[in-house]
Amino acid sequence: MLFCCQGSEARPSFSLMAVPGLASVLPEHLAAHLDLGAGTVGAHPGTERFLSDLRGVFHDEVAYGEALARGNPLVYRVVGVAPAEGDGQLHYGLGTLQAGKIGQEYFLTKGHLHAWRPAAEVYVGLRGDGRMILEEEATGRTRLVPLGAGDVVYVPGHTAHRTANVGSEPLVYLGIYPAAAGHDYAAIAERNFRCCLVEREGQPVLVERARLVRGAGGRP
Ligand SMILES: [Fe+2]
Repeated sequence: MLFCCQGSEARPSFSLMAVPGLASVLPEHLAAHLDLGAGTVGAHPGTERFLSDLRGVFHDEVAYGEALARGNPLVYRVVGVAPAEGDGQLHYGLGTLQAGKIGQEYFLTKGHLHAWRPAAEVYVGLRGDGRMILEEEATGRTRLVPLGAGDVVYVPGHTAHRTANVGSEPLVYLGIYPAAAGHDYAAIAERNFRCCLVEREGQPVLVERARLVRGAGGRP
């Protein structure tokens, strides 16, 4: 109990620096408040992706061009928090993905692999109705799993992952991952995911990208 938080307000620097683990994290990073409506984590800065940032993500390029001609809405926002670096440490991020579709394909994130491929991740759904698309890098094997309020998704290592909003309200979720994971967006940008999440008779359905053959006007 020598280094418990009792009396920490009176001598915070002593209490924090005397414990090796706590000494590695700035006091302001030990706790943060999630504002699910605003999509913020305390005062940490976020990264915003607008529709114009997502060229090549959606399979229906004609529908994408038409949507972009009508406007350039915010599609998603991610706030990443890196409290500490090094072995055993964790980072986390809050994602807010707006509702919408391009053609029949739901709004979704670019998706990524982890630069350190063995790194796994846990996603926790906080608000809205979404799905995660998980694609094993070596085989292309794909799984669609629910990511709505109260859902927890375990993303194994060596697995590309992206989120999609299949509801009518913003999808909000938290991702927690090893500090060493890193993000590899280039591999996804080069080949995209093997499957697309499209609406069929009101339901989200995974369809192989290669099967979404485009007819006249680029429609599948
Ligand atoms: Fe990740």
